[in-house]
Amino acid sequence: MRDDDIALKVDAVSKSFGGVRAVRDVSLEVARGERISMIGTNGAGKSTVFNLIAGVFPVSSGRIELFGENLTHLSTAKRAGRGLARTFQTSRLFEQLTAAENVFVALGRSEFRGRSLRPARYSSARWERVSQLLERVGLSGKGAAVVADLSHGEQRQLELAMALSLQPKLLMLDEPAAGFSPVERQHLVTLLRDIPEEISLLLIEHDMDIALAVASRVIVMHDGEKILEGTPEDIRSSERVREIYLGGSVDNAA
Ligand SMILES: Nc1ncnc2c1ncn2[C@@H]1O[C@H](COP(=O)(O)OP(=O)(O)O)[C@@H](O)[C@H]1O
Ligand SMILES: [Mg+2]
Repeated sequence: MRDDDIALKVDAVSKSFGGVRAVRDVSLEVARGERISMIGTNGAGKSTVFNLIAGVFPVSSGRIELFGENLTHLSTAKRAGRGLARTFQTSRLFEQLTAAENVFVALGRSEFRGRSLRPARYSSARWERVSQLLERVGLSGKGAAVVADLSHGEQRQLELAMALSLQPKLLMLDEPAAGFSPVERQHLVTLLRDIPEEISLLLIEHDMDIALAVASRVIVMHDGEKILEGTPEDIRSSERVREIYLGGSVDNAA
């Protein structure tokens, strides 16, 4: 891969929490516009890798670059400003606000990162953008609904709209299908495939069907280590992956 084709480069990153080595020596690269899934059973270290990339906590060792810039010691806000957006494994929505208001607030944050913040001047354009974003994630009829009244699936769609509102270069999603019904899962696959192709996507997903349906490359985590990387076909036919997923550590509550 040529250097300027690389969106994200994670080099030998490790993280310990007290005595627990949650992530050990993980390296990975995401090319511009590439879709990568990271799979693995509960406790494999997937969310920790995400949190290290997003800057939620510092690495114990290793290095993280976004578009060639060393991000290893930058704040989460600065990383967001460099084009990195993420959703969380548990929801961070404003429950009392409507779907549209949540996206409006997210958009406001991204404008705030720009040089001039003049909310009154921008607001009608911003509402226009809000409806486009809701439409993109399949929530056009739901703008006026209070978050607490949305289904679980709709809340995750809304989170996706909020992440997209930041116009990210790299979008990271942590188990977007957690708690979804089979119909909602199918719908999510469609939404993820429709993400604009210039956005690189790093998807953590316990559900292998979704992970393999969306990505061109898959990374398998186990016990804090990256144990395998390959095409969806490689992963599907891997005896090791089958063992891990069918072994005693499978936890479908993830
Ligand atoms: N903030 C934290 N403090 C202490 N231990 C943590 C923390 N976050 C994760 N861990 C531990 O790190 C390991 C990997 O967890 P995690 O990255 O959440 O796995 P996954 O997302 O693959 O289920 C687990 O043993 C978990 O208990
Ligand atoms: Mg996790």
